[in-house]
Amino acid sequence: MLWDRFFPSSFLHDLPFEWRNFLLLIYLHALSDYTYLSGTKKGKSLQQFFFDNFKEYIETIRGCWNVINQLGIELGDYEILIGSALDLKLKDESVKGIVTSPPYSIALDYIKNDEHLLNYLGVDIGELRNHMIGLKGRGKDRLVLYERDLKRSIEEMFRVLEPNGWAIVVLGDISINGSRTNFNKKIIEWSKDIEFEDAWQLERAILGGFAKLRFEYLIFLKK
Ligand SMILES: C[S@@+](CC[C@H](N)C(=O)[O-])C[C@H]1O[C@@H](n2cnc3c(N)ncnc32)[C@H](O)[C@@H]1O
Repeated sequence: MLWDRFFPSSFLHDLPFEWRNFLLLIYLHALSDYTYLSGTKKGKSLQQFFFDNFKEYIETIRGCWNVINQLGIELGDYEILIGSALDLKLKDESVKGIVTSPPYSIALDYIKNDEHLLNYLGVDIGELRNHMIGLKGRGKDRLVLYERDLKRSIEEMFRVLEPNGWAIVVLGDISINGSRTNFNKKIIEWSKDIEFEDAWQLERAILGGFAKLRFEYLIFLKK
C-alpha cells in the first residue's frame, strides 16, 4: 500500500512483506532524525541516516537473536491490534501479562513530534488527538484529564488481566512548574481501589541532561 504510493516502480516491490515493513520502519526513523536534526551539528543526509539506522537495527536484531538462541526461548504467536489503551479491544481476564509505558504526563506532544510521520502514514491527526492520553484539554484541565485517563488505562489493564496476572508500567516522574507530579505514587494508591492484590515499584535514576525527568519507575501491579 504505502510502497505502491511512494515507491511505485521500486525493486522493493518484489521483496517479502516483512522485509518491506522493516525497511519502511527504518526509513521513517531516518525521516524523523533527518527532520529534527537538519541544521544542527548532528545533521546528515536522509540517505546517511537511513544507512546508519539500518546498521543499528541489524545489530539490535542480531543481539536479540543471540539472546533468544542462548536462552532457548521459544517465540510465541503475535497479533497486532490497533486501538486505545482507554478501551482495549480485549476480553475480560484474557491477558497473562502487560508491559507498557504510558505518556509520562502532559509534557510531550506526541502528535506534534511525529506529525511528519503520521502524515506520511496517512493518519487522521485530528481524530487521533481525541484519543491521546495527555493531549486533551487546555491549561490546568490538561493535567486533570491526563490523570483521569491514566487511571482509566490502569483500570482497563485490571479488567483484561487474568487472575494472578501482572502489569508492569514504566513511568517517568516529570516536574511541571517546578513540582513533581508523582503519578507513580498515585498509581500505587489507585491500585488498592482497583483491587490489585499487590503493587510495588523500582526506582531508576535518570542520569544526564533531561532536567524535567529525574527518575523512572517500574511499577509492578499484580491482579
Ligand atoms: C512513553 S511513550 C511509550 C512509547 C513506547 N514504549 C515505544 O517504545 O514506542 C507513550 C506512548 O503512549 C502513546 N499513547 C497516548 N495515548 C494513548 C492511548 N490512548 N492509547 C494507546 N497509546 C497511547 C503515545 O503515542 C506514546 O507513543
